[in-house]
Amino acid sequence: MKKVPSALLPVIAVDRKAPKPLHKQIYDAYRSMIVSRNLGADQQIPSTRALASELKISRIPVLTAYSQLLAEGYFEARAGSGTFVCSSLPDQWTSSDRGSSSPDVARSGARVTSRRSSLLPAYERLPWLSGLGAFNVSQPAFDQFPFQTWSRIVMRHCRNPRARELQYGGPLGFEELRKAICAYLRTARAVHCDPEQVMIVAGSQQALEITTRVLLDDRSAAWVEEPGYWLTRHVLTAAGCRLVPVPVDGEGLDVAFGVKTCRKARAAFVAPSHQFPLGATMSAARRLQLLDWAQSSGAWVIEDDYDSEYRYGSMPIASLQGLDHNSRVIYIGTFSKTLFPSLRLGYIVIPPDLVSRFAAVRYVMDIAPPHFFQAVLTDFMNEGHFARHIRRMRQLYSQRRTALVDELQKEFGSVLQVLGSEAGMHLAVLLPKGLRDQPIAARAAREKLWVAPLSPAYLGDTPRQGFILGFGNTTAEEMPNAVRRLKSVLLAEKSFRHKRT
Ligand SMILES: Cc1ncc(COP(=O)(O)O)c(C=O)c1O
Repeated sequence: MKKVPSALLPVIAVDRKAPKPLHKQIYDAYRSMIVSRNLGADQQIPSTRALASELKISRIPVLTAYSQLLAEGYFEARAGSGTFVCSSLPDQWTSSDRGSSSPDVARSGARVTSRRSSLLPAYERLPWLSGLGAFNVSQPAFDQFPFQTWSRIVMRHCRNPRARELQYGGPLGFEELRKAICAYLRTARAVHCDPEQVMIVAGSQQALEITTRVLLDDRSAAWVEEPGYWLTRHVLTAAGCRLVPVPVDGEGLDVAFGVKTCRKARAAFVAPSHQFPLGATMSAARRLQLLDWAQSSGAWVIEDDYDSEYRYGSMPIASLQGLDHNSRVIYIGTFSKTLFPSLRLGYIVIPPDLVSRFAAVRYVMDIAPPHFFQAVLTDFMNEGHFARHIRRMRQLYSQRRTALVDELQKEFGSVLQVLGSEAGMHLAVLLPKGLRDQPIAARAAREKLWVAPLSPAYLGDTPRQGFILGFGNTTAEEMPNAVRRLKSVLLAEKSFRHKRT
């Protein structure tokens, strides 16, 4: 017999002293929940015994109410499974004007929300982030992930959950994982840290949110890279900060520009190892200049080190945090690129004197990170699978990157300028003058090519037009076809055809 989940007990209040009989009270309650759609088609109804026991009444009125609801077609009985709301309720029974319980927003008076939240663009699933495959910028090679190993560890933790894993943890996260991350960061990224400085978070995004709450106030000025990562800007906007766009060039952030424009900024948000989206690596001179400015003006530097495990043609560049002798850098990393983004795990390395502030802010936000995948990831790292996976992926992404760069050169020559292909899992291409990236990206998405437009990465009025092309989840074999399809999308643009003639 097919097992069915046990039904939820609905909110029904019965009044034994009321003149209305109990079976009628139950009947009316169910009917109105169905008509107002609080109970949906196919939803299971509790057994008469369970409901009677919950309401502390005899079964008889419950049986009477159920048989009437069955007779009228609100309920249906399924042999061996139980009683359900009918799967095919006539529309007129559930139309919104029949006892709908949804509030009437239009007549409820002024609905004041925060000014900050109104500054954020409405959430929408962007077309270029919607699908799997070429050239989605947010995707690692999913099919190459060692799921067998991962699921073995998952099963181990599912079968033997320890009590300490089931209760609230501390706001910094699971100690064993912080130790593993610390060992990794010291060796692979030359980060100065102790496990007590590491906080586990739900990806870089939560790291940016917590860091902003700790370090910045309403109207604090913050340097952001121009162009830069839009989700960093949105966090700052939602916090009421003043964004100061500082241009990036081939050496990364133009620190002198930032100092000239807004020396007194409270913080600078940078991705020095692999700038997003143009891909520059910040030069040693600029790094020192940035740290000097931070030290002399009492500012903070937030280092977003989101994908620097992958560097082609040279060794990974050491972190900016490792160069800092004044504890002015907050270092942020993520497992979204090295493992997979839905894991929602990342980390912050916090200057020692700020740890308790970060912990206090995190505690009110979500108390502590969920334990389960922290425990799984700890084993995955400590058993050597993480390091092995990164080594394999470095080789794989290197091949994919070379294939993409070669195909772009072959199909477009100098018409598309390629930038920032030395690291990470994406590169940028600039479109010839006169072309607009967003409509083309929307059209490409209809062809199942997920190219992110470059212009939304700019705050200023004259953004460069181009695309950010991810190569993590497109095989070298698929690359020629994917690039040819991109070319057909571009050739549909009259002004692009002219550039080529
Ligand atoms: C610049 C930058 N930082 C961070 C991330 C990772 O974000 P998260 O860890 O929240 O998934 C990304 C993802 O694409 C990114 O582009």
